[in-house]
Amino acid sequence: MRSGFLGIDVGTQGLKGVIIDPAGESFWQAVSPYPTQTPRPGWNEQYPQDWQRALENVLEQAASAPARILAIGLTGQMHTSVFCDGAGSPLRPAILWSDNRGADKVRDLFDTYGEKELWQRFGNLPLVNYTLIKCLWVRDHEPEIWRQVRHVAVAKDWLRFIMTGNWGSEVSDASGTYWLSVARRQWAHAWLQELDLPAEWIGPVAESTVVVGTNRIGPEALRGIPVVAGAGDQPASALGTGVIAEGTVGISLGTSGVVFWPRPRFEPPPHASIHAFCHALPEHWYWMGVTQAAAYSLTWLHERFGPTATFDAWTDEAATAPPGSDGLLFLPYLNGERAPINDPDARGVWFGLSSAHRRSHLIRSVLEGVALSLKDVVETMQALATPHRLVATGGGVKSALWAQILCDALGSPIDVVEDPGAAVGAARLAQLSQDSAAGERLRPTVAWTAEPEPSAVTVYQSAFARYRKLYQTVRPLWASQS
Ligand code: XUL
Repeated sequence: MRSGFLGIDVGTQGLKGVIIDPAGESFWQAVSPYPTQTPRPGWNEQYPQDWQRALENVLEQAASAPARILAIGLTGQMHTSVFCDGAGSPLRPAILWSDNRGADKVRDLFDTYGEKELWQRFGNLPLVNYTLIKCLWVRDHEPEIWRQVRHVAVAKDWLRFIMTGNWGSEVSDASGTYWLSVARRQWAHAWLQELDLPAEWIGPVAESTVVVGTNRIGPEALRGIPVVAGAGDQPASALGTGVIAEGTVGISLGTSGVVFWPRPRFEPPPHASIHAFCHALPEHWYWMGVTQAAAYSLTWLHERFGPTATFDAWTDEAATAPPGSDGLLFLPYLNGERAPINDPDARGVWFGLSSAHRRSHLIRSVLEGVALSLKDVVETMQALATPHRLVATGGGVKSALWAQILCDALGSPIDVVEDPGAAVGAARLAQLSQDSAAGERLRPTVAWTAEPEPSAVTVYQSAFARYRKLYQTVRPLWASQS
């Protein structure tokens, strides 16, 4: 039987397990879904007990996979917070990364400490997504629950407790709490004290490849196997695709869009909406800019206006409109926007519609608007660094047209690379815990390279200037609406 490393990803839609062999190839996978509750608009919760059931289900299946598992690595949704009693039982549903109920708590931090001081202390500014903000919300709105809290963990670290009995985190997920000194890769103890958050609640923080215990749940065959700390889903995905070295910038065109920029040392990000976090390998960091509605913009258009046509038919139709969509511009801010404008009130815009526009223009303008929003993030980061190579992943670049539009908008060649997903990244961390030389093999696997087409590059340069100006022009109108 071949040896394998099991990666577990506690994702937003469900829990996924994959097994990779020592050559890094994945040869087995299983998924177990669970629901998200939305008790109010903008609030998103999940039951950690659902994650545990999904984990047990996946472990059950993994035990009959044709593999001898040597180590298990964990990954999952970042920031998502679990509040537990002394026995580790959740006291309320987990509050998800995408939940924005804590907007007031972010403002409170700015009012108390001031932007300058927060920036100086952390080199990052707090966003509503961070675990600290969720804690402050529970403290102020659910004092009965807060009184009973003895442990706080992000999603995968709660599962680690369930598997090993040990509390704690690792630097990459800990970066999204807002109580880690990202520069020193250690808890910010003075800050925890100031906030009245006992350090015993969170346990120690380790590097991502450290073994943190042995598994004690699920089938007998999987008990006693080393469990490795793992990483947040974004750094784990980057590890899976091989986006590790300085100069290789990953652009993921998934439901949301992510620009992942590895850095060789801690450097404060070029803008308040960009994160500077610890990567999953020691002495590696990264900047990350997230756009809210990337491939989701096309899904939205498709659901509302074209459910009978396939995505391929739609993108074929978009290809019949010219670059620049004959002056039609789309701002993809359907769910507000995180980077670089950091504007939760922003909304989508179609600008420049004329009777000459066909449906193909509408579809193409959406693909172009998303590409320009990612360019906006890349340009913001470029204020402080220059990429040597761009690699693209995600469902969106399965469309050759969309990958080409992204390449022309950025005016630079883009390698479209295979994206094995965060669970494979977690499995690779498990492998690295046993065989540090396995890191040498972590390189992007290129499917094809998009080369910029000069006339389209010129069109998108001027479209980008209009795109930025359009947002600045309409911004006061959203503010006056609320
Ligand atoms: C990262 C983030 C999301 C979640 C989704 O900052 O908020 O990517 O990790 O799983």
